[in-house]
Amino acid sequence: MADRVLIFDTTMRDGEQTPGVALNAEEKLEIARALERMRVDVIEAGFAASSPGDFEAVQRIAREVRGSAIATLCRAVPEDIDIGWEAVKVAESPRLHVFISSSDIHIMHMLEKDREHVLEMARAMVARAAKYCPDVEFSPQDATRSDPEYIYRMLKEVIDAGATTVNIPDTVGYAIPEEFAAFIRSIQERVPNIHKARISVHCHNDLGLAVANSLAAVKAGARQVEVCVNGIGERGGNAALEEVVMALKTRRDYFGVDTGLDTTQIYRVSRLVSQLTGVPVQPNKAIVGANAFRHQSGIHQHGIVKLRETYEIIDPRDIGLPRGGIIVLNKNSGRHGLRARLRELGYDLAEEELDRVFRAFKELADKKGEIDDRDLEMLVMEERRASVEVYRLDLLQVSCGNQLVPTATVRLLGPEGQVLQTTATGTGPVDASYRAINALVGVPNRLLEYQVKSVTEGIDAQGEVTVRIDVDGHTFVGIGSDTDIVVASAKALMDALNRALTRVPREERAWSNP
Ligand code: KIV
Ligand code: ZN
Repeated sequence: MADRVLIFDTTMRDGEQTPGVALNAEEKLEIARALERMRVDVIEAGFAASSPGDFEAVQRIAREVRGSAIATLCRAVPEDIDIGWEAVKVAESPRLHVFISSSDIHIMHMLEKDREHVLEMARAMVARAAKYCPDVEFSPQDATRSDPEYIYRMLKEVIDAGATTVNIPDTVGYAIPEEFAAFIRSIQERVPNIHKARISVHCHNDLGLAVANSLAAVKAGARQVEVCVNGIGERGGNAALEEVVMALKTRRDYFGVDTGLDTTQIYRVSRLVSQLTGVPVQPNKAIVGANAFRHQSGIHQHGIVKLRETYEIIDPRDIGLPRGGIIVLNKNSGRHGLRARLRELGYDLAEEELDRVFRAFKELADKKGEIDDRDLEMLVMEERRASVEVYRLDLLQVSCGNQLVPTATVRLLGPEGQVLQTTATGTGPVDASYRAINALVGVPNRLLEYQVKSVTEGIDAQGEVTVRIDVDGHTFVGIGSDTDIVVASAKALMDALNRALTRVPREERAWSNP
């Protein structure tokens, strides 16, 4: 039987360190459930000691998610380990992940300590963690810029102290595949007790090599890979889960290892993470990008029609890709048909949620006629966003044209059901709508980014708008979809403002809205 490589997902910890991303406990739980369904081995649910919000999210995930081990990150200090254990101890399989920097540049300039002191902190804190938890992971941060001799010593010490996984982070994405593989091999040769621990790798993408480095490490003997869905994370991001997993599966002949993942969940989890984090997936992204299975050239199309394998090395069904184009439902479809299709896509909605999605489905089917899986997914996401709204967009009416001053009338329903309405002008219909919404909601903000893309093909396609706003130094993303892009734009701003209103506690606000 082939060796097993564990998949350790850190979307909710390292991935959440993506600028502008902030997930609340509900959203994290939803992602954790999706990762569990995909049979990820370990879910790093957060950094419990970093904030009460993170603690709550980690603890909820530890309590409610059963199929995967639940890890939390801890600095090598007693408080982090004690708080981390409080958060994960309710898990079926808890893990404490202790880290400390090992490179001289970090030790001298960040920790302001010396190597011996750091070595002792690592040993002592792993021992503390191991008293609580049988499953302890240790990471020497910035390992690839550290003195290898020091890393071998450190790993030996922490394994003796109880570490069961030793993770080698390429924290700043500095490694080159051959060199990284050689480092992993040298660890197996030079750390005498390495057979007592599993070797893991954690690669960042600053040079675009995170996936290549992770795969080279697997070939060299690493048996856990740390990844983020869609490759999100600090700076250039982390190794992308979908790329690592599908490379190992597609080239099993070369790597000779298996992951335990249900790869048919990949597409859905990618969409979910993109929707909840507001980080769009670039169209040419491997595996989950919109173009990953599209064939433009006539020669390629001809080949694909004859035999899919002529130009595709992955069967799109293996990642659960809904076949775009295939009409699944139309305006004559009933509630049962809708529910059945949503279940097939992995959305099990409560009755009231289903009622609302069904109403929205009928409205959309009236406009578009044919509804495919991507439309359904948009409707579910719209419903999810609506369920946490503070202000709700009730009416948007715009007039614009080359001889008209763009004017928008907006009516919102407020938190106590109050009806708020105003009219504003602007440089275009979106600008006018945004001015009207901002005047009503009263949360001062700066638009940092505005992106629009079409979710499905055709003139009647749904448009998806993503915005990023700055509110008092904090970035919030918002997403909206509709067949009308001005409406989608208004929904996106409302989503971002609602996130700001639900995530910044009243006492911490530098602004007061009506
Ligand atoms: O990149 C890194 O070094 C990390 C560690 C904390 C594992 O994220
Ligand atoms: Zn990292």
